[in-house]
Amino acid sequence: MSLLAHLSLALAGIPQPTQTYSFDSADYKLFFTLTGSGPLLVIQAPGWGIGDAYLQSGLAPLAKSHTLLFLLPRGTAPSSCPESTTEMRSVTMAFDLESLRVWLEVPSLALLGHSNGGAVALAYAEMYPERVERLVLVSPQILGFNDSATWIRFFGERKEDPRYAGAIETMKGGMDPQTDEELKGLLKGLMPYYFAQPERYAEKFYLQLEEAAKDSQHGSVQVSPFKAQGDADRADKEGVTGLFGRVICKTLLLVGDQDAFCSVAAAKVAEEGIKGGGYGEVKLVVLENCGHFPWVEKGDVFFDFTEKFLDAQE
Ligand SMILES: *[C@@H]1O[C@H](CO)[C@@H](O)[C@H](O)[C@H]1NC(C)=O
Repeated sequence: MSLLAHLSLALAGIPQPTQTYSFDSADYKLFFTLTGSGPLLVIQAPGWGIGDAYLQSGLAPLAKSHTLLFLLPRGTAPSSCPESTTEMRSVTMAFDLESLRVWLEVPSLALLGHSNGGAVALAYAEMYPERVERLVLVSPQILGFNDSATWIRFFGERKEDPRYAGAIETMKGGMDPQTDEELKGLLKGLMPYYFAQPERYAEKFYLQLEEAAKDSQHGSVQVSPFKAQGDADRADKEGVTGLFGRVICKTLLLVGDQDAFCSVAAAKVAEEGIKGGGYGEVKLVVLENCGHFPWVEKGDVFFDFTEKFLDAQE
């Protein structure tokens, strides 16, 4: 079926089988996957090489009420890879959302981003404020915010906790993977640190990540975008803080109180910044006893807030 037929049926509420398409954004061929039916929700995957398979499986409940479009960023295969590292900056990846919107011929997007995908989605709302209808930032990375105080606090709380001992060993081993396999090993080792209840969820989540990517020819994680995006963002010393006030859409921020990577403190910086601009309406929801993947540890609350927000009931 053509994309156009798929999209018009899905938007009309007629469920369609999941399918992957591609389009051209400037010099790049980018892939995206469509699933579900109902109003369109674009989901931005992180740009560091984890792809969108974990989001397709984790966020599947949203496909009952929405047509979900998962955008696979530049640099993550099979989407094509920029030759220049600067083109791999998280902020620069936001231009691909604008290309997607133009290509879809829609005036604005409802947009959701998780983690680094949240940073890309937020950058898009800052650069193209009138093009974002609603924004959901789930455990977003806030670029340019020095969150080492949070890192130190969690380390203090967790260093004697046997549930995190393996993850802490992994961190001490350094975080400079050279191959996809090494990145996979690093992620597997760190996995407990992403959770408030690692004993319940960490291993299961990792196995699901592997399972979700099993049909992909590119593995569950890719080291090339991991390195390129990391280098590009680190070199981007100016950062992008200070642009929050440009956001004018309604924004929902969801963050776990036990997220050591993308913290409540970071989310508050974005909340204050958006409020400070005077146009955007922002709601911050802190999920208790919850780490970096709210749909795993606080699924009921997470989907309830997200769906109500998208349906404009609150
Ligand atoms: C980040 O903040 C910590 C204190 O919380 C400080 O020691 C450190 O130098 C800062 N790093 C940068 C790069 O500014």
